[in-house]
Amino acid sequence: MVKPEASEQQGPHVPVLLAEVLEALAPLDGARILDGTFGAGGYSRALLEAGASVVALDRDPNVIPFAEKLRAEFPDRFTFVAGTFSRLDELAGGPVDGVVLDIGVSSMQLDEAERGFSFMREGPLDMRMSSEGVSAADLVNTLEEAELANLLFAFGEERKSRRIAHGLVMARGTRPITTTTELARLIERSIGRKPGEAHPATRSFQALRIAVNGELDELVEALFASERLLAPGGRLAVVTFHSLEDRIVKRFFAPEKSEPTQSRHLPQIARAPLGWEQVGKAVKASAAETDRNPRSRSATLRSGLRTAVPVRPVSAAGLGVPEVRGAA
Ligand SMILES: C[S@@+](CC[C@H](N)C(=O)[O-])C[C@H]1O[C@@H](n2cnc3c(N)ncnc32)[C@H](O)[C@@H]1O
Repeated sequence: MVKPEASEQQGPHVPVLLAEVLEALAPLDGARILDGTFGAGGYSRALLEAGASVVALDRDPNVIPFAEKLRAEFPDRFTFVAGTFSRLDELAGGPVDGVVLDIGVSSMQLDEAERGFSFMREGPLDMRMSSEGVSAADLVNTLEEAELANLLFAFGEERKSRRIAHGLVMARGTRPITTTTELARLIERSIGRKPGEAHPATRSFQALRIAVNGELDELVEALFASERLLAPGGRLAVVTFHSLEDRIVKRFFAPEKSEPTQSRHLPQIARAPLGWEQVGKAVKASAAETDRNPRSRSATLRSGLRTAVPVRPVSAAGLGVPEVRGAA
């Protein structure tokens, strides 16, 4: 197994499944790797230390100081581009041997109260990674009740979504909901809180964050962009943090698994040749890593090797992307 350097423990964001990601992308010495989710640069640094050149992307302008630091240390082998990973093939600046995506929010984003990602920190109800576009406050204060409920159900798998949406619409009738802690309190008031269980706002915050940042569409686009960018033999490694994302990645790599099983008594339907091989099982963090970094508990790594099969057109069909129905 490729050993992560001591840098694994440094920085404001502890990289998750680092050794496993390096192994999935190996061989690294002399390779050119695209890190689509730079964050605090934990993966990029380890890739550079293993001898790779790295082109890194992030949509969050706040990561630029971390990128400048790496650029100063590795001026010939490191480039940073501000942008979204849905366009990673256009932004890569040439062919790459591997792509890595570490989906979701960084510890910096969660820890900075003014970004509005955490219900545990008083801050404006924002949640925009790129600080552009519609904020969580916009959604909570303007969506029709049914649409808000559908969003919380689709992206948060929140079974009490209708009660929550009703409570929020009642509350915003008096005055707009503008802070994280206010939203968390209102959700708790609608559905209560059981001792020993996750905070009742957890699922709703996840749903709003996914909606604000178009996270599932970004993921689907990035997977197909990687399929276009990587030549045969190129490697893709994706780390996700919840079941909605993992399902998309799993089905993207192995679409035949999501097709209905064929009966052996009927003529066999020809299956499309596959764009990916060596797609292993999902990799989870070891007990040692989850002890060291509890955030790694929900992480899943999936990876594959690009074959010579031509690229598929971008389509979310069959990937299990939940749909948010409009207002009833
Ligand atoms: C979990 S962190 C990555 C941490 C990084 N692997 C490290 O070791 O420091 C995810 C990062 O991806 C960025 N991100 C999320 N969605 C993105 C997108 N669609 N395009 C580009 N960057 C994105 C976030 O801004 C965040 O900085």
